[in-house]
Amino acid sequence: MSNHPAISDWATSRGEKWRDNIAGMEKMLHPIDAPLIQALRLDAPYHIADVACGGGGTTLEIYRNAPEGSVVAGFDISQALVEASRHRATHAHCDIAFDVVDIGTAVAPEQPFQRLVSRFGTMFFDNPPAAFANLSKWLVPGGRFAFAVWGRATENPWMTNINQAVSTVVDIPLAAPEGPGAFRYGDRTTLLGLLEQSGFTEVEIVDWHGKLTMGGARSASEAASFAITSFSSFAEWLTEAGGTAFNDAQKDLTARFSKHEIDGVVMMDACVLIFTGKRR
Ligand SMILES: C[S@@+](CC[C@H](N)C(=O)[O-])C[C@H]1O[C@@H](n2cnc3c(N)ncnc32)[C@H](O)[C@@H]1O
Repeated sequence: MSNHPAISDWATSRGEKWRDNIAGMEKMLHPIDAPLIQALRLDAPYHIADVACGGGGTTLEIYRNAPEGSVVAGFDISQALVEASRHRATHAHCDIAFDVVDIGTAVAPEQPFQRLVSRFGTMFFDNPPAAFANLSKWLVPGGRFAFAVWGRATENPWMTNINQAVSTVVDIPLAAPEGPGAFRYGDRTTLLGLLEQSGFTEVEIVDWHGKLTMGGARSASEAASFAITSFSSFAEWLTEAGGTAFNDAQKDLTARFSKHEIDGVVMMDACVLIFTGKRR
């Protein structure tokens, strides 16, 4: 999956694609915010950074839930997403600074943060050992972090169903399991090792198992459209294939999703790992 050019290109096309589907994406991912914020232990006003913040959904949620006096900032590599986040924060009267930054390489601020959070943003580094070592410097010694990543693909049938449906129609390029991508840290020992060798300590993993909607309250056919259009590079592969490829995949996925409709809404099992701990 990750050898399609669009997949790693968060700074440009992939960031724009995420922005264009932001409402559905954030409805889907919102259930992760509560356990993620809980893992941050916001027991006093802190300076908090949301890294790889995307469209700012989690950043806004933190701002609304943090103790009075907290300072919240968001960082992302995509200009389009940072602009969307700024727009949302202004509209919601939330005083949050958003900046375009490659958090894998950017020099840490002079005043590092006391809390560092990321919802599904730490899986895309080209050089994870260097990036996590850099990221640890964004946190004051003793400061807490909480990073949410997907568990194993087999525990996330929302994605395996889409893969299966699309691969009945086109060949999906094989992803290197250790390369950038959604399930890169599904085997928890990989990220655990990286964090421990990068200046983080007392690392714990909170398992979150639950059901997620496919882009909000959508029926099987609507959810199938959303999933194919929004996730990974499925839409690009199917469009490239041409003919009836897109419709065939959508039909196949609709049939799969219809087995998971509850009161007209597709709800799929998901497994998320929340890595949390401190900077040494
Ligand atoms: C799956 S999205 C998650 C976005 C957001 N955290 C959320 O949960 O809605 C991954 C995000 O990581 C960002 N990203 C990827 N690599 C990055 C990097 N090196 N520095 C900063 N942001 C990065 C992308 O631009 C994208 O917004």
